Amino acid sequence: MIRASAPAKAILFGEHAVVYGHPAIAFPIHGLCCEVTGAKSSDERTHIIAPETGESLYVDEDFEHPLIFAWKLAQEALEQELPATHFQICSTIPIAAGFGSGAALSAALIRACQLVAGIELPLKQLNQLVYVVEKHYHGNPSGIDNHVVVFQRPLYFQRGNAPEFINLKAGMPIIGLRCGGGAPTRTVVEDVRLRRLAYPDQINPMLESIAVITKAAKEALLAGDMAYVGELMYENHSLLKKLGVSSSTQDRVVEFACANGALGAKMSGAGWGGQVLVLTAPGSLADFSKKLCAAGYPPVFSEVIV
Ligand code: PMV
Repeated sequence: MIRASAPAKAILFGEHAVVYGHPAIAFPIHGLCCEVTGAKSSDERTHIIAPETGESLYVDEDFEHPLIFAWKLAQEALEQELPATHFQICSTIPIAAGFGSGAALSAALIRACQLVAGIELPLKQLNQLVYVVEKHYHGNPSGIDNHVVVFQRPLYFQRGNAPEFINLKAGMPIIGLRCGGGAPTRTVVEDVRLRRLAYPDQINPMLESIAVITKAAKEALLAGDMAYVGELMYENHSLLKKLGVSSSTQDRVVEFACANGALGAKMSGAGWGGQVLVLTAPGSLADFSKKLCAAGYPPVFSEVIV
């Protein structure tokens, strides 16, 4: 039996702007993960089972499915026909809610294929393979999701550049919540694209302001100035709201966090529902999680990011 995994991810700053070449900052969430186990198949066919999505696929049947696409790419990269394997997926990552579930699934499955083949591809190549799957199914992804789930470190990312890993001086106490299912990333990204084409004088300055915030946030993170990181999160959220990608529930959670003394909060990911991140003061992660629960906003994860 082989076992491979990949973590969830969250975007701390810069979503949407990153699609247009501006920087973004993201981190892996180790408390949420996608695990793929593999064992020799009993019927000589490769079978992928994903109980969370109710899928049971034979790889020789549905070539259009992202998991089968990822499995085929892995075979090509490994330059061998893999033995018939029974793959089972077990994931705690919420689907379509800004947690990078698709990228984590591809990364974990390709890693599992590497273990079946007994070959380890360089991380750079694994990253490229996951990006190809993302691109095939999500249109024009910036590439931030694959970088985070493959390299598994907080990073500052800008399209076309090598990622800059961020060593967080102080741990970052973060709570993540899910505010309904988010809209498909592709739909929200396309909406922003069309509005940017129609109203460049309104949309471009917002994306540029998000970039300024992201650059300031990188310096604040490196300096361990979490109070300033929090302020910048609120500012980034206001801009995303103005950009028209937030939802009323996400706005309410951000307002609740602010009114209750969180250092910062913002929506995360593509939006129109989905994820909200809350940055708490050091040592108050557990208390703040309880407050959120009591208000009807149960956290999906709560961890000190390092
Ligand atoms: O919601 P997610 O995890 O798919 O994140 C989307 C982030 C965007 O910046 C909106 C798109 C992208 O490709 O970076």
